[in-house]
Amino acid sequence: MRKLVVGNWKMHGGLAVNGALLGALRAAGHAPCPMAVCVPFPYLAQARAALEDSTVAWGAQDVSEHASGAYTGEVSVAMLADFACRYVIVGHSERRALFGDSDERVAAKVKAALAGGLKPILCVGETLDEREQGVTEAVVERQLAAVCRLAGADALAACVIAYEPVWAIGTGRTATPEQAQAVHAFLRGRIAQWCGADRAVATTILYGGSVKPQNAADLFGQADIDGGLIGGASLVAEDFLAIVAAAV
Ligand code: PGA
Repeated sequence: MRKLVVGNWKMHGGLAVNGALLGALRAAGHAPCPMAVCVPFPYLAQARAALEDSTVAWGAQDVSEHASGAYTGEVSVAMLADFACRYVIVGHSERRALFGDSDERVAAKVKAALAGGLKPILCVGETLDEREQGVTEAVVERQLAAVCRLAGADALAACVIAYEPVWAIGTGRTATPEQAQAVHAFLRGRIAQWCGADRAVATTILYGGSVKPQNAADLFGQADIDGGLIGGASLVAEDFLAIVAAAV
């Protein structure tokens, strides 16, 4: 079972709007494919209360690599587990670019998440400069290899991977299905090489970057695109549910 659609709310929301959005997702009933929402930390309790016993899972958008201690402002894996999170996004390009998440720290976060029973959604992706320089594969390979080297092949194989070209995030500019498929196939090939063919076939590889109801079916129709990590469109229940429906 490889299909999955995950909403990444980023730093959006509030108690009232979340209530309406979560209620609409819950009311959608039986999901055509597994779905989840990754909400800001303060709303984990709200997500849990709204989605418990539903077909929608929930998770967080980041986590500390440390178990506990003097790390003001950080949130540990055990804290996320306290709120029954299934997923945690790790290495989102916004964390990498704006908050200093290095490949090494991302690998440590993957390791910590798995040790605490959470499923990491490991994000990789190139910037526009990198794509134009023709180093897309080298960049995503480096990001993936760091997790394999520092957390181990078993850890990499246990992740959901999200390929998110940085130039397509929040820009309205989507990778074409063919561009995305080429990178997804490359990533699956590397996972096969490092973790074994069976595990590569079983790995869920999501595409993220301006996925909308209008382009979701074409993207998800590609052989190695198993669903999406959805930012802006995950904030509108109707759009998110239409994208989920396109992933069947
Ligand atoms: P977007 O964001 O769908 O708004 O482009 C995707 C993401 O950053 O995960």
